[in-house]
Amino acid sequence: MRAAAVIACLMIIVLLTISFGHGTAESVDLARVKWLGSLSSSFIRPMIPNNVHITYLKKEPTSIIHFGFDSFLSLYSAYYHMKGVRLFLHTDYSPEEIFQAQNSLNRTDKWTTLALNMPNLEIHYVVAPNRTTNNVEISLVQHKSDFVRMDAIKQYGGTYMDTDVYVLRDFTPLRAAGFQNVVGREPIWGHVNNGIWMSQPNTTMVNVFIQASHEFFDGGWNTVSSIMFRRIAERLHRYPFEVLILDERAWFPTNWQGESVDKLFEPFLDSGASPAATTDVGPDDVDPYQWWRLALKPKKDNEMDFSGSYAIHSFVHHHPDVKNFDGLTPEYVLARQSNFARALYAPVRHAFEAGLFSADDFDIE
Ligand SMILES: *[C@@H]1O[C@H](CO)[C@@H](O)[C@H](O)[C@H]1NC(C)=O
Ligand SMILES: *[C@@H]1O[C@H](CO)[C@@H](O)[C@H](O)[C@H]1NC(C)=O
Ligand SMILES: *[C@@H]1O[C@H](CO)[C@@H](O)[C@H](O)[C@H]1NC(C)=O
Repeated sequence: MRAAAVIACLMIIVLLTISFGHGTAESVDLARVKWLGSLSSSFIRPMIPNNVHITYLKKEPTSIIHFGFDSFLSLYSAYYHMKGVRLFLHTDYSPEEIFQAQNSLNRTDKWTTLALNMPNLEIHYVVAPNRTTNNVEISLVQHKSDFVRMDAIKQYGGTYMDTDVYVLRDFTPLRAAGFQNVVGREPIWGHVNNGIWMSQPNTTMVNVFIQASHEFFDGGWNTVSSIMFRRIAERLHRYPFEVLILDERAWFPTNWQGESVDKLFEPFLDSGASPAATTDVGPDDVDPYQWWRLALKPKKDNEMDFSGSYAIHSFVHHHPDVKNFDGLTPEYVLARQSNFARALYAPVRHAFEAGLFSADDFDIE
């Protein structure tokens, strides 16, 4: 990367010398210099900051703070895979309410206290908007979060994530891709989903999205957050390096339909604990050809291969009736008897070995 940047700079110097040395065909040469300039700036472009932003907002004025194991695991998977990450929690709970939750002794608050006391977590107090600047009411907490997240990444840059996103590996290659924004298509409809959004601070795309959200938000479930987000992302491709759209497998390898949720979460009852074929051998352990050949092995059960995925945006809340699945607990993940459990085993085991929880907590949802 650095060598490429040096070579690109040298080429520019050489070309500048040649073109200005001759003093002819100025417009052509300037066009060429401009083109090279935008190319070289991609090599020296700073990486997207190693920040992860989540929002945790009140549904109602009387709501209380509660993180289930599912939300804790979302946060911990980011912490585990993204070395050195800064976690930002943007919330409209008061400092007193947060302090109380951080210090709760109630067993059911196990994951709340662990999440809110993570050493690299910064809590940012925000005012959740109730109306757009166009005076349309924002009543659903999910939509308030849409507004809070875009302000957060405009200000700080980094990766916004919903708390049902589970990180499978480090996003550093995406942060280093040279783009101002990295977004991902969602399955089925091909919209671009703002449940994960990587951005530099104050980008053109963030600024367009903020303005458009206030102009076009109408209370519809996905009018702005995926349909309009897609239109903006696709249109702004015309600005070099403004946005990279990943295919659905990168962040949304499964979808919200019953069959897909079942396949991800339903335990393989007969198979016994089995290490995940896709995680027990890593690509560094075998040569690349053998690594690829491993994918041709017949799959056991309903085994899924997440090699092409950086994260799983799980949709279990859209379909809560998965057979033989009583909710997300450490016990469920540590048993490694489903695709989800196998994919998330490493961070859960890490948290267990770090002493964050004990066998007594295995059943707390
Ligand atoms: C613990 O939390 C549960 C669920 O939130 C609640 O019903 C219960 O009253 C709490 N217990 C104490 C001692 O606060
Ligand atoms: C939004 O409404 C809630 C009450 O429902 C209120 O507490 C809060 O201050 C309002 N926020 C703004 C920005 O007006
Ligand atoms: C954000 O970008 C806009 C336009 O590119 C610029 O005018 C503005 O000063 C920037 N704001 C910050 C806080 O950097």
